[in-house]
Amino acid sequence: MTVDLRTRYLGLELAHPVVASASPLTGSVDSLKRLQDAGVSAVVLPSLFEEQIEHEEMAAHDLMLYGAELSPEARGFFPEIPQSSSGSDKYLKLIADAKSALSVPVIASLNGYTPGGWTSIARQFQDAGADAIELNVYFLAASVDDSSADVEKRYVDLVESVTRQVGVPVAVKVAPYFSAMANMAARLTNAGAAGLVLFNRFMQPDILLDELEVAPHLVLSSSDELRLALRWIAILRGRVEASLAATGGAHTPDDVLKLLLAGADCVMLASSLLARGPSHVGTIVEGIRRWMTERDYVSVEQMKGSLSQQSCPDPDAFERANYMKALKSYTSEFV
Ligand SMILES: Cc1cc2nc3c(=O)[nH]c(=O)nc-3n(C[C@H](O)[C@H](O)[C@H](O)COP(=O)(O)O)c2cc1C
Repeated sequence: MTVDLRTRYLGLELAHPVVASASPLTGSVDSLKRLQDAGVSAVVLPSLFEEQIEHEEMAAHDLMLYGAELSPEARGFFPEIPQSSSGSDKYLKLIADAKSALSVPVIASLNGYTPGGWTSIARQFQDAGADAIELNVYFLAASVDDSSADVEKRYVDLVESVTRQVGVPVAVKVAPYFSAMANMAARLTNAGAAGLVLFNRFMQPDILLDELEVAPHLVLSSSDELRLALRWIAILRGRVEASLAATGGAHTPDDVLKLLLAGADCVMLASSLLARGPSHVGTIVEGIRRWMTERDYVSVEQMKGSLSQQSCPDPDAFERANYMKALKSYTSEFV
């Protein structure tokens, strides 16, 4: 019997749940084609950052919108939209080229933190052919004046401002650092998010002792990290309408299987593909297929969420009780 690996994510039908997450590997058409040939079921392009959307370009864009309402003479006063290859022009070309070169869905990614005019670029992502948009909100509330309520409102406003621009589904990629993650997930969904990508992995800066400098520190993930997404996906499965994508720490077929059992609709890979190359996708997909066949699972849809908090026999295992048990059972030769 063949196992049906298909899954639905953001209303898109994917051949299986293994998706290439945003990374340098998804940043060129050649590399995207290699990923497709290796078997990924969808790709997320690297993010276009709010800072890359040039201010002059936004101003010209806004003037064009108003200009459309004006007489031809009045429009003559407005500057031409620059034809230069700005960050966003290059990005829109990447979307269009990826769409014509690939048959798998192409998800464009936007990274920002302020609600405002720049979010209208989402419409251009859609016009360039993006099947969906991933909005990566990267905002560090470093000011003592920013309350959690202010920060949460900022996220919700941003999601509303992007989803208002487009008809294609918008997934929101967030970090796990909310006081009330489940409530936030529900509010993001109510604000229009068709999917949640859990979780954004912040690069924490480091201090270089020899140079006495603060420097960015980028390390690839390990499988140990996947349990953060695993817990929250298990908790949220069945409690929010949005599709759930797991990102962070998926390296092996077992990692992907665990996230699917918790309730992920798809699992996104960046570090494992950067470390082992695109062909690793095949190993993962075959590993999932083998395990499911051995266990008599018929389809990914049937398996998805079967160990979510709502479905598993021990729902407390995802909450505080598990923490206490784990600490009490820890042993070491020095204790
Ligand atoms: C070098 C590198 C570049 C990345 N660029 C982006 C990006 O542009 N946008 C984004 O949303 N995530 C980006 N990510 C995050 C990944 O998409 C992914 O969410 C994260 O690395 C966790 O997944 P992993 O454990 O499979 O690496 C990047 C990660 C790496 C390692």
